[in-house]
Amino acid sequence: MIIARTIETLQEAKKTLQGSIGFVPTMGALHHGHLSLIRQAREENEYLIVSIFVNPTQFLEGEDLDAYPRKEEADRKICELAGVDILFMPTIDQMYEEDELCIGAPAIRGYVLEGEKRPGHFDGMLQVVMKLLNLSSATHAYFGKKDAQQLALITQMVKNYFMDVTIIPCEIVRDERGLALSSRNAYLNHEEKERALCLSRALKRATKMVMAGELHVEKIKQEMSAVLSEADRVEYIAIVNREFKALEKVEIGNTIILVAAWVGKPRLIDNLWI
Ligand code: PAJ
Repeated sequence: MIIARTIETLQEAKKTLQGSIGFVPTMGALHHGHLSLIRQAREENEYLIVSIFVNPTQFLEGEDLDAYPRKEEADRKICELAGVDILFMPTIDQMYEEDELCIGAPAIRGYVLEGEKRPGHFDGMLQVVMKLLNLSSATHAYFGKKDAQQLALITQMVKNYFMDVTIIPCEIVRDERGLALSSRNAYLNHEEKERALCLSRALKRATKMVMAGELHVEKIKQEMSAVLSEADRVEYIAIVNREFKALEKVEIGNTIILVAAWVGKPRLIDNLWI
């Protein structure tokens, strides 16, 4: 595995690659969620590039940029064992210059839910993903459905800017009790981890209701809200179509149910596609 800490090293290493390039961008502190993307990309491509970059432009003022978990040594081993060809770990100063040209999140889809609660987050995320996709020359890039809105916006960016890369959505990986894996779960103590299960429980409750024929969004949200009372603060419960437009009735095959809630220190998100 080549470890590229500079853009020059990455460009040099890429010269030898001829064939499909799978790419998995991450912010590190790798867990089995990341690993499932990495494994899928490994299976489906001749070459595999993973990036680890805690991107400052997608963190808002007061968010956990400085405290964001960093586990470089462990991450490197995980990538090595998973058969990564190039691990790209640039420094911030190589990735940005002053007074940059920026692309922004779309006015509607980019400013609901996560975009409303974290204004500017998606601008920074799209900015770095554009850079990383260009740098990696990926033919296939893998993103988790865990960050559903992020995935939708990246897919839209690739479409709107005619970028020559296929975006592959990957399923959410959960622990044995249902908690969606996240680097931020590292902040949870034992008691909070128990309570954090209420996010996936609320989604399970919603699934049961839909399976029993209940399609009314308000009724489903009410029940979810009761399950989510274990969280310290619920930021949103949303039921939208795949375009992120609010629904009054669940449309089977075209609906995403999303929750965001604070449990202890971290703000957790989870969702379900039905
Ligand atoms: P990060 O949070 O490290 O996530 C990297 C990728 O792993 C994302 O595509 C995310 O959706 C996916 N992922 C995280 N947890 C997952 C889980 N439990 N199951 C399945 N996939 C999961 O998302 C980012 O980094 C950044 O915004 C990034 C795209 C790298 C741009 O900076």
